[in-house]
Amino acid sequence: MSKLAGRLRTAVVTGAASGIGQAVASRLTGEGFRIIGVDLANEEVSVDLAKQVGREQASLLIHKLSPEGIDVVITCAGVGGSGTSGAQVSAVNFFGTTRLLALLRPHLALGHAPRAVVISSSTSLLGYDSDLLKDYLRDDEQSAIDSCKDSILAYCTGKRALCHWVREKAVLPEWAGSGILLNAVAPGLVATPLTRSALSSPAGRTAALTVAPSVLPDFPSADEIAPLICFLASAQNSNMVGQVIYCDGGSDVLIRGPVIP
Ligand code: NAI
Repeated sequence: MSKLAGRLRTAVVTGAASGIGQAVASRLTGEGFRIIGVDLANEEVSVDLAKQVGREQASLLIHKLSPEGIDVVITCAGVGGSGTSGAQVSAVNFFGTTRLLALLRPHLALGHAPRAVVISSSTSLLGYDSDLLKDYLRDDEQSAIDSCKDSILAYCTGKRALCHWVREKAVLPEWAGSGILLNAVAPGLVATPLTRSALSSPAGRTAALTVAPSVLPDFPSADEIAPLICFLASAQNSNMVGQVIYCDGGSDVLIRGPVIP
């Protein structure tokens, strides 16, 4: 059982109803965590993280469900860049992550060996919109939503902004200085409901591999990504701060080359 200070560790997992979030919640349950799932529906906390009111409702409910504090937050809720508006991509993927984490941070500070893990993407290494990146990093949700018309660019820019945000915040007194270790995982293509239609045809797989190249023969399942995320969320992770771990079949190396930029 995952116990510290005589009680179960409590983990908040967003996007817990599907894909990577579901795999993480299931693995942590097996490790003896108490899970508070957050998603649009069918979870203990059913809210819309695209809206500030939904993020605030989530924070209030989580406080009520675990008044003694929480130990882990893992933000897996997200939408893809195709078939969704740029505004929705921005609202869920970036602000639904960073604003929820900001609301939950004081509650995490009450936890034991508190950890937060953000899910970025290897697409954070692709082209981006520099004005939109600025909107994200100055927390200007309205300007980001008004200006981002291209949902694919919003997806890549939002994932890049999450990497910046994690690296910027992780070392601050409010985070590492309060004992909360904040890191990110950036997966390449993972076989989940999000990518099901893109990966269902040879043409779709070829197109997907042009943006997220891989040297491995298969796309991993969410269950293969979950152990890394769960390690970063564990008390055994005692020294990693502000890292973005690319778990991507080699995309990072293929895109950026062997030299650390
Ligand atoms: P998924 O579609 O299987 O799961 C995403 C979950 O987020 C769903 O349960 C959905 O209901 C929830 N969600 C969406 N909008 C929401 C909202 N407004 N409020 C609350 N919950 C909401 O997707 P998957 O693949 O598990 O993706 C999880 C994260 O991993 C996303 O941030 C995605 O961008 C990222 N990622 C996924 C990759 C992949 O190839 N599947 C690759 C790299 C990153």
